[in-house]
Amino acid sequence: MVKNTPPMGWNTWNTFAKDINEELILQSADALIATGLKDAGYQYVVIDDCWALRERGKDGKLVPDPEKFPHGMKYVADELHRRGLKFGMYSCCGAMTCAEYPGSLNREYQDAKTFARWGVDFLKYDYCFKPAGLEGKTLYRRMGLALANCGRDILFSGCSWGADNTHEWIGTTGANAWRSTPDIFDTFDSVKDLIKRQYNILPYGGVGCFNDMDMLIVGMHGRGNVGLKGCTDDEYRLHFAAWCLLASPLMIGCDIRDMDETTRSVLMNRDLIAISQDARGNRPYITRFFDCDDLPIVVRALGNGDIALGLFNMTDGDANFWVPVDDLGVPEFSGKRLRGKELYTGREIASQNALLRDKVPPHACAVYRLHLVDAK
Ligand code: GLA
Repeated sequence: MVKNTPPMGWNTWNTFAKDINEELILQSADALIATGLKDAGYQYVVIDDCWALRERGKDGKLVPDPEKFPHGMKYVADELHRRGLKFGMYSCCGAMTCAEYPGSLNREYQDAKTFARWGVDFLKYDYCFKPAGLEGKTLYRRMGLALANCGRDILFSGCSWGADNTHEWIGTTGANAWRSTPDIFDTFDSVKDLIKRQYNILPYGGVGCFNDMDMLIVGMHGRGNVGLKGCTDDEYRLHFAAWCLLASPLMIGCDIRDMDETTRSVLMNRDLIAISQDARGNRPYITRFFDCDDLPIVVRALGNGDIALGLFNMTDGDANFWVPVDDLGVPEFSGKRLRGKELYTGREIASQNALLRDKVPPHACAVYRLHLVDAK
């Protein structure tokens, strides 16, 4: 399956890890709807690792843990589809998943059929326990082909953490997104690290196969599986804006049954989601670093001729950014300047004398949607 904009949804791993079950999945599906997240575009409900029994069945098939999923996976799929949502599941190209449940190695065709029969729409495919002598790219191509022939449209979401130069071969596998980073944790250091890891690989992402910066930690506040010390609201805002501007999939990782209003407003920022989901699919780029590489200036040209601009301050002090708008394709002789608003605050901004200036506090960002206006 091909999706021309980054997939959006919710995934169990960041908060719940092995503590998953049918009730949690369906309650979270209901919460997606009740909170308005579904209407904002979050469509996929993804069950990550730890859903299966430790052993396959006699017929070699994967078996959902009956204590966690008493009605089986087809039932879960049907319930999600009935709610207008899509169903994601998880497997691994090695003999075992990362949490040591059965992996799909040498069972790719059988498992793809099983997922198709259950009504799965999305497969996250991990990279643990690969056998010696078999390359990851071979195993991913296998699963890509198995999915393309399983009789159902299943979106293939690779999760090889950027290992083994994934960017060089992922586009040959049929994957629609590829994890370009190690796992995220609920700290600002982790967010900063994952953003910096994108700097040299942005040209490899985009329509066809998006760079996946891992699931969102917005609203975790230190709770759950990858919750460590948590982040401030500004840090979560910076995190979400970066994932939108850099065209990463947007997979929520907090407990959406219990979100505070700030979390909801960040995840539902429709202006940022519109940048993430811009149908033209132009690649984002870093036009320059302001002073140092903790101050990236990120740009994405949008389908209607607007420009998305993000000033990210990942340092511990204030940053007085100035951006030559010539960098963004607006030379002075064009007789144009840029005007628009900041997307978290609604604050109006315009370039003056060929520069756009703004002050951004530490661990915060300013993100604008700008359009061309006559300079005079
Ligand atoms: C890996 C992946 C995570 C998660 C776990 C599950 O670490 O990168 O996103 O799926 O495995 O065990």
